[in-house]
Amino acid sequence: MNKTYANYDVLDFYKSLPFNTRSSLSEEITAVRKRRPEQLYPGLQELLGPDISVLEVGCGTGWLSNSISFLYNSSVLGIDFNPVAIKIAQEVADAMKIKTQFRVEDLFLYEPGKLFDLVISFGVLHHTDDCKFAVKRLFEKFVRPGGHVIIGLYHKYGRQPFLDHFSEMKNRGVPEKEMLARFRALQSNIKDETQLVSWFRDQVLHPHETQHTLEEMLPILKEANMELVSTSINQFKPISSTEDLIGKEKEYSGIARKHLENNRYFPGFFVFLARKIA
Ligand SMILES: C[S@@+](CC[C@H](N)C(=O)[O-])C[C@H]1O[C@@H](n2cnc3c(N)ncnc32)[C@H](O)[C@@H]1O
Repeated sequence: MNKTYANYDVLDFYKSLPFNTRSSLSEEITAVRKRRPEQLYPGLQELLGPDISVLEVGCGTGWLSNSISFLYNSSVLGIDFNPVAIKIAQEVADAMKIKTQFRVEDLFLYEPGKLFDLVISFGVLHHTDDCKFAVKRLFEKFVRPGGHVIIGLYHKYGRQPFLDHFSEMKNRGVPEKEMLARFRALQSNIKDETQLVSWFRDQVLHPHETQHTLEEMLPILKEANMELVSTSINQFKPISSTEDLIGKEKEYSGIARKHLENNRYFPGFFVFLARKIA
């Protein structure tokens, strides 16, 4: 029997409003039709196609899973431990008549019975009680040799200025309404009010998150026989050396501080793509 490191405060938190929920089913459908998945990871489209099997771990309300099904006709399974989010994701797939599959599953307990070509997990593993073990599980249990994994996590250096900014407001006793107004000013591109509130809760009021570095991920990659292909740390450019990336990621707190000073949203998130050596 596997042990779970799922965090149940996180589950309760998302049950009351899943992250990235929009105000109506038609808004969810418009987002699937209009937003391209490669916005999340440049080059993602090259890994997708009708014969590709995709597992999205922590799919939430399913925008990415549905979008990959809809645009690339890949065979996509989205899992999340929140039944409220999975219900929305399934409603969108049903309304659009797309074949995405969704299941309520805890990523630590799920045994898929097959290996996937591509495994994606954005903004999920840092909301568990053992992020590194979760990363390792994706590498060892879900992806086939020669297949790819894309992971997005909060960044230790890049996230801190944002956390400090809102902690300082919380410590001053600033009411939630004012903090929401500050978040709205930073995230002015989200127009749907439900979606904005879901982001605000996720980014500012969350019960549990951890922050990480690419440096920390390197031994986990190595141990699981994975090679790093690309990362947002160097804007997805060719990797000359991992030392170079480790140096670059330390610059992220300065970059994040500058964004905040200029009233620009900077969540402090990094993504990386890795391939399982065949
Ligand atoms: C910030 S949301 C991200 C959702 C989606 N990946 C996105 O980018 O819109 C984090 C998601 O992780 C899910 N999650 C957290 N722990 C989980 C676990 N142990 N098993 C499955 N899903 C989990 C939550 O329910 C939530 O939907």
